[in-house]
Amino acid sequence: MHNPDQTAFATGRHFLQIPGPTNVPDRILRAMARPTIDHRGAEFARLGNEVVEGLRELLQTSGPVIIYPASGTGAWEAALVNTLSPDSRVLMVETGHFATLWRRMALELGLRVDFVSTDWRRGADPAVVEAKLREDTGHEIKAVAIVHNETSTGVTSRIGEIRRAMNSAGHPALLLVDTISSLASIDYRHDEWGVDVTVAGSQKGLMLPPGLSFNAVSGKAIEASKSAGLRKSYWAWEPMLTANRNGFFPYTPATNLLFGLREALAMLREEGLANVLARHARLGEATRRAVQSWGLEILCAEPSEYSNSLTAVQIPGDYDADELRRVILENFNMSLGIGLGRLQGRVFRIGHLGNFNELMLAGTLCGVEMGLSLCGVPFSRGGVAAALDYLETTATAQNKARHGAA
Ligand SMILES: Cc1ncc(COP(=O)(O)O)c(C=O)c1O
Repeated sequence: MHNPDQTAFATGRHFLQIPGPTNVPDRILRAMARPTIDHRGAEFARLGNEVVEGLRELLQTSGPVIIYPASGTGAWEAALVNTLSPDSRVLMVETGHFATLWRRMALELGLRVDFVSTDWRRGADPAVVEAKLREDTGHEIKAVAIVHNETSTGVTSRIGEIRRAMNSAGHPALLLVDTISSLASIDYRHDEWGVDVTVAGSQKGLMLPPGLSFNAVSGKAIEASKSAGLRKSYWAWEPMLTANRNGFFPYTPATNLLFGLREALAMLREEGLANVLARHARLGEATRRAVQSWGLEILCAEPSEYSNSLTAVQIPGDYDADELRRVILENFNMSLGIGLGRLQGRVFRIGHLGNFNELMLAGTLCGVEMGLSLCGVPFSRGGVAAALDYLETTATAQNKARHGAA
């Protein structure tokens, strides 16, 4: 009989393969496990300056980055309330569940949202964004807000192309981008892509526990914040930017998470951002090969928009994805991502981001393959083998690149 407490007695390590929060490396856990320091003292100022500097490097911006002791939702709200006024029009694209939640927040804050719908299988279409902006000859739309990597669907929107579309429409709207599940996993360039506010979070590619979120802001966004009429207090940029100049915060920061952030930034720098992105691309591709070889369908319908941080897999027929996830958790101590919103029970999501490597992926895929079989889901054996083949054949190239061999 099933023992409901079974997972409490499981030996070995739990496989946390949801698309965030991700596995926190021991190095980061150790960095956080130390006494909290005075957040008004000189040691803290050094920490504050260091983490802001590291985030600027990671986000590829020469502008300020604000750190909130909040989950990603807080940084979403900060992006809106600092740049917009009651009744401002915002253009958003319904890429999936998270875009829908951001839209709901915008409506609750009193904004007017033009919501472009999709079938939740593709990203924001730059041509549609351009057409919408061209129609808006009076420049009433004040911001375009896009989720870079839609965590509910495993689809990555092409932000550089969206920027080009905005430029060719000659429209002055701000560009706000959610990188909560893409930062430090998928290529992202705040300055080069002319993003005005980047929203990011700690618990995914940054390998930290949940609890920190970020706004990277352009000069144009700061200018907009001077006349933005939405009410704010806790989220206001101005007191943050003033205190940050000396490495401090206007209120008590999440000091120990910042110790962890400093370590995470050091780890990413040691690996090198290009290598971090290449690792995610390779593990993402191996996962997709497994899914295709199982004969299951990847939810993302556009190969050029496949996400390298997670893969959402459609479950065939009347089979229940939540039942599959339950069987996998109870038998193999692995958590997979649920289907969110309208995808509930229809998909499961494999997180392959953050502190992750080949053998962790192999274990993950083995758990899925065994679960599919135990649940009687129609599929073809061989997904794990296809992934391993790919990992093996690309390993040499990877080594050559790493060691600079000819
Ligand atoms: C793309 C995206 N945006 C926003 C959020 C909301 O962030 P949080 O749950 O940290 O508040 C999430 C959470 O997973 C997300 O994946």
